[in-house]
Amino acid sequence: MTAALAEPLTVGTLPPTMPAFVIRPEREGEPERAMHLEEVATPEPGPDEVIVRVMAAGVNYNGVWAALGQPVSVFKLHREPFHIAGSDASGVVWAVGANVHRWHLGDEVVVHCNQSCGECPECNGLDPMACSEQKIWGYETSWGSFAQFCRVQSQQLLPKPRHLTWEEAASYGLVYFTAYRMLVDRARIRAGQNVLVWGGGGGLGSMAVQICRLFSANAIAVVSSDEKAALTRALGASAAINRSEFDLVKRDGESAEQARHRVGEMRRFGKRIRELTGGRDVDIVFEHVGSATFPTSVFVCSRFGLVVICGATAGYNLEFDVRYLWMRQKSIIGSHFANAYECHQANELIVQRKIQPVVGDVFPFEAVPQAHQVMRHNQHAGKMVILVGAPRRGAGVHAG
Ligand SMILES: NC(=O)c1ccc[n+]([C@@H]2O[C@H](COP(=O)([O-])OP(=O)(O)OC[C@H]3O[C@@H](n4cnc5c(N)ncnc54)[C@H](OP(=O)(O)O)[C@@H]3O)[C@@H](O)[C@H]2O)c1
Repeated sequence: MTAALAEPLTVGTLPPTMPAFVIRPEREGEPERAMHLEEVATPEPGPDEVIVRVMAAGVNYNGVWAALGQPVSVFKLHREPFHIAGSDASGVVWAVGANVHRWHLGDEVVVHCNQSCGECPECNGLDPMACSEQKIWGYETSWGSFAQFCRVQSQQLLPKPRHLTWEEAASYGLVYFTAYRMLVDRARIRAGQNVLVWGGGGGLGSMAVQICRLFSANAIAVVSSDEKAALTRALGASAAINRSEFDLVKRDGESAEQARHRVGEMRRFGKRIRELTGGRDVDIVFEHVGSATFPTSVFVCSRFGLVVICGATAGYNLEFDVRYLWMRQKSIIGSHFANAYECHQANELIVQRKIQPVVGDVFPFEAVPQAHQVMRHNQHAGKMVILVGAPRRGAGVHAG
């Protein structure tokens, strides 16, 4: 732990400066190069804002994108000349703005990462995700969670489930709330459906598998190792498929023969799914990989089924045979994070212990860049978490 993080602090008093991992425009690149520990001015809350002392912070793929400056530099997304990444936090309310009445100093909280204006008709009737000023905190805004304190809108706060450690509470927000909206509100998951979950052992996938189990749907998890297959089964997946047994990815400048081979592989993949489902195709495909998997997702989805997609780790230019879409009347649905109501609904399932956080490796604060490098190389399972103010792994649990 850095010296400043170990110093005693009084709730309500903000030190003038704080340690933070900072990305600057001139050093965008690999996370280990881009993210530097700096001492920066501690932010003050605006009228509707809260300053949270960060106890633990979850590692997300958007931190990798922010470091790389790809597919777009975060400095084109917000006006700050620096970027503190981190879109997941557990912590303690340390200072509140003049208009904040719902939260008080000392409250233990989890932060969700959607920010919106709060004033427009979309925020007040349709969905804050439709707000023209909607942004993902810690990615499209600065002052994220890889710092001693973070600055958030008060509507971003949720009660921390009392039975969770700080690292567990920091692990699930972004991925779980995203997966909840995708499956529950966008895809309207129903009991008995078959759901193909790409990356079933990753951040989003490990939560999607649990949502399927909770709704009595059958998750068929796709993974790249036996360890991740075992993890997904433990989380409630009906079956797991190791994707390394199939040659599904389209090569640049693919020849006619290679195309035939790839379609044959997609058919073989679909056959494997039907062997696992008692002969049925998947009703929903849970997509976030993008170019490497999307043609297969559209292909294996059932007639009248749907592909719900929120990301594109492998690439965002998607190429697929559209005949399978229209002839079999399939749908493609985009989805992005979640609104505060969905976050609260989903958080309550954690409070009720119906969904479990899936914490992978836990790192000290100094390891923020290395943890993102691990994620960039897909060498992790579940969610990686950084201890920031938490004194040790396992702290933060309350009885009852
Ligand atoms: N729009 C939103 O609100 C939102 C929210 C959260 C995340 N996302 C995006 O969703 C993506 C995944 O996020 P995450 O946190 O779940 O990341 P993650 O923890 O790294 O998990 C992604 C999983 O995808 C699988 N994968 C990676 N490359 C693949 C490939 N070429 N083919 C098939 N599977 C592949 C890997 O599983 P195996 O190697 O085991 O197959 C990996 O575990 C990221 O791009 C992220 O930016 C978007």
